Amino acid sequence: MEFGVIALKLEFGWFCMYKSILRAEEKEISAALLREVEALEPAARPLARHVIEAGGKRIRPLLTVLMGKALGCGDPLLYALAAGIELLHGATLMHDDVLDVAETRRGAPAAHTVFGAGRAILAGDVLLAACMRIMLRSRKFDIIDSVALAAAQTAAGEVEEMDNLRNVRLDFDGYMRIIIGKTARLVSCACEIGAMLAGAAAERIGDAAAFGLELGIAFQLVDDALDVAPESVTGKPVGGDLREGKFTLLAQFYLEGLPQTERGHFLRGFSQGSFSEAELRELVSRMRACGCAERLRALAGEHLLKAGRHLERLPAGREKDTLGFLLNYIKERDH
Ligand code: IPE
Ligand code: IPE
Ligand code: MG
Ligand code: MG
Repeated sequence: MEFGVIALKLEFGWFCMYKSILRAEEKEISAALLREVEALEPAARPLARHVIEAGGKRIRPLLTVLMGKALGCGDPLLYALAAGIELLHGATLMHDDVLDVAETRRGAPAAHTVFGAGRAILAGDVLLAACMRIMLRSRKFDIIDSVALAAAQTAAGEVEEMDNLRNVRLDFDGYMRIIIGKTARLVSCACEIGAMLAGAAAERIGDAAAFGLELGIAFQLVDDALDVAPESVTGKPVGGDLREGKFTLLAQFYLEGLPQTERGHFLRGFSQGSFSEAELRELVSRMRACGCAERLRALAGEHLLKAGRHLERLPAGREKDTLGFLLNYIKERDH
């Protein structure tokens, strides 16, 4: 057999192994999640079920479990903490869809469109409180503090994003601050608490958190690139960021590539929110074709490389390798 074919077969073998590890962990996480959802206040359960049962990639709880195990954690509480992080993520999604006036989530109608915005906000609060009570089971102040801080930073990131809606002067640094706040901090926390439950040394906990932060930045960069991808693929509305006036890096790159003569029209339409439906559709297809999404993915790749450097410092093992596999997946992901 040719060397190339052998290498390909080997690579495929690894791919299957990582997939099967992820599937097995996901199964455990889902069981824990189900238990936590059934223990919620009855009034909040239908909303929680709506968002949890719609699926999702379960990236954050997978990170908690894999990071915990990579650092030697054998405590079954790891799955409860992972479920807690997914509940908190679910809460942020329910709130986010109210803020973004988004109609769909995880390929299903967004919770607020089914139950009303008031209930979605209140059920989100129930999920946040439930998450904090799960963290208490660890009896570790560092874990409780990490999650409380991440929840605050996520909400603050969303506030900062709102403060900058339709602000075409938002620059690269401002954009990065927003995505770190609204997304990367929670991803970082998901990794950090796994390391903390494992009782890892401070330095390794720092690596876990830094790994998560870089991965989280990359994750949101790709999410912003996916804004112009079809809803059938992402399960979320097409051009949502554009509609809501988020001057993401995708819009910033698009603007950079426009001829001077077209910039004024784009900037006016964007800052005033005055694009017609037809113009928005046209913009989406131009943004798909301009190569901006590829630039975002390339930048995400740089952050994933940084994440990989932190990962290298972790002890060797299959969970570490699976975290490395996830880094690759994040860059290529299409939903
Ligand atoms: C959506 O997160 C919100 C962002 C921070 C981009 P995910 O893309 O992880 O959503 P699910 O959990 O898979 O639905
Ligand atoms: C994600 O915000 C951050 C939170 C959910 C807190 P986005 O608004 O960019 O995410 P999607 O695209 O709706 O998932
Ligand atoms: Mg949104
Ligand atoms: Mg949002």
